[in-house]
Amino acid sequence: MKAAFVISTAVLLTCIAVPATALSDNKAGDPLYKVVDGYKVDQDTMQGFRTWRSAACDRCHGPNQEGMVGPSLIERLKVLTPEEFRITVLEGRMDKGMPSFSGNAKVSEHIDELYAYLKGRSDGAITRAKVVELEE
Ligand code: HEC
Repeated sequence: MKAAFVISTAVLLTCIAVPATALSDNKAGDPLYKVVDGYKVDQDTMQGFRTWRSAACDRCHGPNQEGMVGPSLIERLKVLTPEEFRITVLEGRMDKGMPSFSGNAKVSEHIDELYAYLKGRSDGAITRAKVVELEE
């Protein structure tokens, strides 16, 4: 019992400690997304929103990502790593009702942008589901 607690605490701490920097920045060191006034986003994040729309993820996860037959992505992206997100969306969890999107060219191509958009929603930085492109 005690050992299990220690292990799960260690796992939890690792999860909290690592993403703090890793999640908010991409490889180039740029922010994952840029948002002004809660809904004006950079081009890549806008692409993520378009991908969300075109794949109709809202059918199961709700128009505001709040969850319907599928779980709330606002909540779940607080804990899923970018890699877990990627694997889940591309491979699906067929037995649990989450389809695979590996055959969807737009989703495969823009999985990082899709993640950025949803992460911004989950962080509370993007305050509404429908975003517009930031004039830069
Ligand atoms: C046909 C319904 C359906 C559609 C469409 C759908 N999902 Fe899901 N999704 C689900 C269900 C149900 C689950 C829960 C699977 C489980 O219990 O592990 C899920 C799980 C997930 C998870 C993992 C959440 C977790 O708790 O680990 C992510 C991330 C996700 N979906 C993202 C997406 C994205 C992004 C799209 C659009 C590209 C999408 N889903 C489209 C039904 C759907």
